[in-house]
Amino acid sequence: MTMTQRVALVTGTGGELGAAIAAALAASGAMVVGLDIADTATDLTARHYRCDLSDLAAVGEVLDSIRREVGPIEVLVNNAAYYRHTPFFELTPEQIRTTLAVNVTAVLFLCQQVARQIIQSGSGGVIVNVASIAGRNGSSQVDYGASKAAVINLTATLGRVLAEHGIRINGVAPALVGSGMGTRLGPGVREKFLAATPLKRAAEPAEVADVVAFLASDAASYLNGTTIDIHGGL
Ligand SMILES: NC(=O)c1ccc[n+]([C@@H]2O[C@H](COP(=O)([O-])OP(=O)(O)OC[C@H]3O[C@@H](n4cnc5c(N)ncnc54)[C@H](O)[C@@H]3O)[C@@H](O)[C@H]2O)c1
Repeated sequence: MTMTQRVALVTGTGGELGAAIAAALAASGAMVVGLDIADTATDLTARHYRCDLSDLAAVGEVLDSIRREVGPIEVLVNNAAYYRHTPFFELTPEQIRTTLAVNVTAVLFLCQQVARQIIQSGSGGVIVNVASIAGRNGSSQVDYGASKAAVINLTATLGRVLAEHGIRINGVAPALVGSGMGTRLGPGVREKFLAATPLKRAAEPAEVADVVAFLASDAASYLNGTTIDIHGGL
């Protein structure tokens, strides 16, 4: 699939990593549509939609608007996520619900709804989910780690479900990124990551975005249902 003029929806474009992913896809020729709970749009997106991903009715409306106003989505990058540092015994039901709603339920719903658009458009498509190394190894932020394990799992399962419809789905699992939630971790977490990482630094957003753009491209035509760790050797 060439990216030229393909409509690519990237969630969480209000953050630096989401903006870097939008930039990498735009550089491949895609027409990038951004979505975030915040108004912050990057100038690399053709259009920006403000939407709370925990409200699935609103998500459905935005997807309809994108199809009408821009065209059928053929590339989806689920990058938005909710993370708040809270010790386990201080976690509230509301935080647990929000983490799972944004990081899992919305991702699954977007995969389903966008897959429908891709099937209707008849030209195939691709989905990339941004998980986390926390989904493989566990995390001191237990709600977040559990949500990212679910993303890795649903990516593997949907690789089997969507292949017959001409849709590839893969993920990335970054460790420490030097932006966004990577700067809002619990006390000492960033230092522990840096000490344990052979490359001795966090990933730049562009270093994650380039892998996402690779997975979305034809160069990754035999990758399906897999999640690539981006951890500097951790
Ligand atoms: N930064 C890191 O160290 C790191 C490491 C591993 C994985 N990740 C993953 O990378 C992705 C991007 O993270 P980031 O570090 O750029 O975080 P970030 O907080 O900077 O960006 C996340 C974006 O998602 C948006 N968002 C949050 N809740 C939303 C909602 N309900 N509806 C719509 N948008 C919402 C935020 O407004 C924000 O713009 C996430 O999936 C995260 O889990 C980040």
